[in-house]
Amino acid sequence: MTQWKTLCKVEDIPKLGARRVTRKEGGDVAVFRTADDKVFALLDKCPHKGGPLSQGIVFGESVACPLHNWTIGFHDGCAAAPDVGCVQKFSVKVEGGTVSLDLDELNAGAAASATEPVKALA
Ligand code: FES
Repeated sequence: MTQWKTLCKVEDIPKLGARRVTRKEGGDVAVFRTADDKVFALLDKCPHKGGPLSQGIVFGESVACPLHNWTIGFHDGCAAAPDVGCVQKFSVKVEGGTVSLDLDELNAGAAASATEPVKALA
């Protein structure tokens, strides 16, 4: 069963902007709010050159990267054509105006990097 980590209220995220969730491992997560108060979360790292998507401008259900203006879709984390590349997408739950993220997904970065030295030895 999914364990959810409570993050904040929807209104704590700027409309058409984002809030950044820092993680010890695996990179920060950008949590976005659309004009109609939907909430989405992506890794805060543009698939182009790693720009901070949390600093981008939200329009529709996408964000424009602040560095070179690629458009990254919230539903799949992928760049709009002709650009190519995708970034990790995170599950979001909004209940009673409270935003939560999937705890396992948040911790997955830590788990993945903890196993890296083992893989390097193999
Ligand atoms: S780093 Fe995002 S568009 Fe280049």
